[in-house]
Amino acid sequence: MTIHRTVLLQEVIDGLALKPGGRYIDGTVGGGGHSEAILRGAPDSHLLGLDADPLAIQRTAARLAAFEARVKLANQNFSQLGEAARANGFDSVDGIVLDLGLSSDQLEDRRRGFGFIAGGPLDMRFNPNQGLSAAELINVLEPDELADLIYRYGEEPASRRIARAIEAARPIETAEQLADVVEKAIGRRGRIHPATLTFQALRIAVNDEMGALLTVLPQANELLKSGGRLAVISFHSLEDRIVKEYLRSASRVRPAQPDDPPDMVRHEPTLRLITHKPIVPGDEEVANNSRARSARLRVAEKL
Ligand SMILES: C[S@@+](CC[C@H](N)C(=O)[O-])C[C@H]1O[C@@H](n2cnc3c(N)ncnc32)[C@H](O)[C@@H]1O
Repeated sequence: MTIHRTVLLQEVIDGLALKPGGRYIDGTVGGGGHSEAILRGAPDSHLLGLDADPLAIQRTAARLAAFEARVKLANQNFSQLGEAARANGFDSVDGIVLDLGLSSDQLEDRRRGFGFIAGGPLDMRFNPNQGLSAAELINVLEPDELADLIYRYGEEPASRRIARAIEAARPIETAEQLADVVEKAIGRRGRIHPATLTFQALRIAVNDEMGALLTVLPQANELLKSGGRLAVISFHSLEDRIVKEYLRSASRVRPAQPDDPPDMVRHEPTLRLITHKPIVPGDEEVANNSRARSARLRVAEKL
């Protein structure tokens, strides 16, 4: 059963300017909310849905089964978007959506260790069959490396204190244990759990989320047909900065720099910005879904 509530659903559909018979890629298929709306909104369209999480693909295959041959799903990381698209015959598409981060299905599954829920192992991998889990990572990193990671990806001001407390408590095996260690180290500050930024930082590091985002954007641009749309939803400032900077630079002529060599290639823009400021959810959506609170949607069109 899917419990994830799709964020900015109508705004993404409007942003994609759906075309009947179009070809679309959902790089973060998750619970399938955006994918289903694309398939319903664009008659005779075809969709390729990717997710790094094998469980998400399994669940969503059942949800989208009614669309039969119009859907292909693949358990792949969007850092391999170009390859996955070409392998499935989606090398020239009308729209691509990326709804970043994790789903509520993942957050609330205690076996995954994304949240502070009691009893879960500290895993946090979107794909539990690949790479190091969060527990493996925090149990092997030097305290300085751990502090840098928590500062960089969580923007957590108390990162050094937290890293020292983690070092003293190692080995840490469960999400609950880590949440307790952080709470003891820095105390409670208001309504938000004190380990929130530490958990965010670890999840980003475990899944190399910034690396994947940096690599997917030019691949997505490359796959779009002229007039095709790219819609990206981010959930924190580190992600949004990467998306904003990429879309801005791809939509501008590269200005000449004083130290450019004479044969420097001038970059012509490849995208046109559709949103100059990000689209954010309305009050009603935020009231019904607290996860939507920090969502920001940016859309661009291929020239
Ligand atoms: C916010 S959810 C998507 C929800 C979906 N739009 C819906 O309406 O149900 C994000 C999904 O992206 C997946 N994901 C995150 N980073 C990924 C990556 N680099 N490659 C592929 N999937 C990724 C996560 O596993 C998660 O299922």
